[in-house]
Amino acid sequence: MAETSGTDAEYRAKRPGSKALYQRALGVFPGGVTHDARYAAPFPIYVDRARGARKWDADGNEYVDYWMGHGALLLGHAHPTLVDAVTRQVQRGTQYGACHELEIEWGTLVKELMPSVERLRFTSSGTEAVQMALRLARAYTGQTKIVKLDDHFHGWTDYLAPGDAPPGIPGETRGTVVTVPPNDIEALADVLARDDVAGLILEPSGAHMGGAPLRQGYLQEVRELTERRGALLIFDEVVTGFRWSAGGVQGLLGIKPDLSTFGKIVAGGLPGAAVGGRADVMAALEFGEATGPQGHILHPGTFNANPLSAAAGVAMLSSVATGEPSEQAARTARVLAEAMNAALARHQVGGCVHGESSVLHIVLGPDAPRADEVPGVVARGALHRLRADRSLTAQLRRAMLVNGVDLMSSTMIVSAVHTDEDVERTVDAFDSSLATLP
Ligand SMILES: Cc1ncc(COP(=O)(O)O)c(C=O)c1O
Repeated sequence: MAETSGTDAEYRAKRPGSKALYQRALGVFPGGVTHDARYAAPFPIYVDRARGARKWDADGNEYVDYWMGHGALLLGHAHPTLVDAVTRQVQRGTQYGACHELEIEWGTLVKELMPSVERLRFTSSGTEAVQMALRLARAYTGQTKIVKLDDHFHGWTDYLAPGDAPPGIPGETRGTVVTVPPNDIEALADVLARDDVAGLILEPSGAHMGGAPLRQGYLQEVRELTERRGALLIFDEVVTGFRWSAGGVQGLLGIKPDLSTFGKIVAGGLPGAAVGGRADVMAALEFGEATGPQGHILHPGTFNANPLSAAAGVAMLSSVATGEPSEQAARTARVLAEAMNAALARHQVGGCVHGESSVLHIVLGPDAPRADEVPGVVARGALHRLRADRSLTAQLRRAMLVNGVDLMSSTMIVSAVHTDEDVERTVDAFDSSLATLP
């Protein structure tokens, strides 16, 4: 424990600038932060600039970054191609209040990359895209209930915000959502046997970007079952889209959901997201006679498909389309996982680093499995064994910051621009940090 408080003292000593900024922020923002996940004791770091896989805080401390813009930055910070595209566009205007050619180019790229997308609309955030997907499913089927998988995250709409009875959300709203355990096809079949289900939404990686993976074959069974029962299948590919493969999970597994949501990478690091899918389901957004029998769904949104996000999105997706960025990021993630698991074994610390594609999860604690045990744990439905211990995670995160690495809590989002040197620094930092844990 003494060493942990040593870490704490070192953290504070090297970050007087961040501390001062946090004190100012406390008088401006509830909790001093603008995103719940950025809240951190004793105070968060304040970032001043970023490039590639690195970022620097207000005190000049350098970090290898594993937030990567909450997953938006597959090509790292300030990638020259994206900087160029955005700089050119900003001089031509950022909000026309009108249609423009770039939005067609952007939408066409999404359509070309995502096998299930026949029509799409852009929104400003993943949460908004999810909100529209739910409305489209309800309009198309004429049914009310949405089924979700336990612990799967879909942003902060009233319907799906995490928590059992979050304050400020009417019970009536939550009453339209039914939660079933993941990986249990019988439980899903029981719910779909009722005739009031509009659709099922899930993270096709498994909950929390794959922290609690889905068992092999489950998504195929889900596709078959939802189709048979007439419920729409919604893949929330806000994280997995353009990352698990250039065509997301749907491209990787060859499964066509009825609707999908995309965010993060889709807008190249600027705000933006999309909802898309079958033309007959999306028809509720058409006008006049083209609108389906359900009638027209309203879709305003000041910043929908704004030219700046469109420019960044086109640049990003043009690069993603080669397949190389997602493959490169996944290769680096595999090297990191192997080296970090070796470090855990060396320090005789229980737990593992596991993950799919380019998102890794660190699970520490006596009950945590080794990496090679993860598929068995998933198959047995013992997902609780993959839940990160909050206190250990917080201690590890602080120690890693002191050692020059910024983890996204227990998650690491790897980009296509993390280098061998970044990997080496990260593994060294992990080695030193493990030595400080109780
Ligand atoms: C799977 C998933 N869906 C939806 C969202 C919400 O997206 P946004 O933060 O853009 O509202 C997130 C955000 O992390 C997410 O991970």
